[in-house]
Amino acid sequence: MREFEGLVAAVTGGASGIGAAAADLLAERGAQVAVLDLNPGDDGFRCDVGSDDEVREAIDAVVERFGRLDILVNNAGIGAQGDVTANDDDEWHRVFDVNVVGMVRLARAALPHLKNSPSAAIVNTCSIAAWAGLPNRALYSATKGAVLSLTLAMATDHLPDRIRVNCVCPGTADTPWVGRLLDAADDPAAERAALAARQPMGRLVTADEVANAIAYLASPLSASTTGTALAVDGGMYGLRPRGPVQHQ
Ligand SMILES: NC(=O)c1ccc[n+]([C@@H]2O[C@H](COP(=O)([O-])OP(=O)(O)OC[C@H]3O[C@@H](n4cnc5c(N)ncnc54)[C@H](O)[C@@H]3O)[C@@H](O)[C@H]2O)c1
Repeated sequence: MREFEGLVAAVTGGASGIGAAAADLLAERGAQVAVLDLNPGDDGFRCDVGSDDEVREAIDAVVERFGRLDILVNNAGIGAQGDVTANDDDEWHRVFDVNVVGMVRLARAALPHLKNSPSAAIVNTCSIAAWAGLPNRALYSATKGAVLSLTLAMATDHLPDRIRVNCVCPGTADTPWVGRLLDAADDPAAERAALAARQPMGRLVTADEVANAIAYLASPLSASTTGTALAVDGGMYGLRPRGPVQHQ
């Protein structure tokens, strides 16, 4: 499938994990892809989503290089651990600033260009944490709940502009982020097993599986899909199997 031929996509956090997989898949399907990241690699655009100036400069540079912008994948995000007492105000503001206001900054800078596209789409990377109460993720979960609500509000606001806005909600995905969390655990193998067991399919999600959902939502073939949250979570949102799954 080359349904993204002629379209330009910007992917934040596109240098690692889910963002890198999404950037590769969109390119494979014909898009010209701009990677926006703190550490973008050789051909990408350096951009801290926490800085409005850097976001505007990066989007201007993307449009200057490629001549247009059709798809925004708002994927950059950072984690936070602990219950509601674990982080001070500065940390709450910092994580909201990256995970939520970062998406707002990108959307503000991209909207004038998306309005000129015949196939405009925004895909936000949300999380199962927006829906399910995960232990010791109070701040992170609050940011992803905000991403879900923001996705719905933006999808409504931009109906007249023909810009579709959707989000993808991964379960625990096997990315460098989760690798770092496992490395920091007392017993990384036991921690990995516990995370896998929490998902009804009994394994972690792959970055490629999330990328596939992002590509589906971004695709011009999905032209009637807006205001949705697509779970890619091994069944974690809706399924309650009795005990670990036994594969036949
Ligand atoms: N891995 C999971 O289990 C999982 C589950 C649900 C949702 N998510 C979400 O998926 C997204 C990507 O996560 P991942 O697991 O691929 O992580 P990752 O750490 O592998 O990649 C994140 C990328 O974002 C970039 N980044 C971080 N802060 C940035 C900033 N201020 N400006 C620009 N770029 C920045 C990093 O440099 C990195 O390249 C995040 O929004 C995360 O919340 C991840």
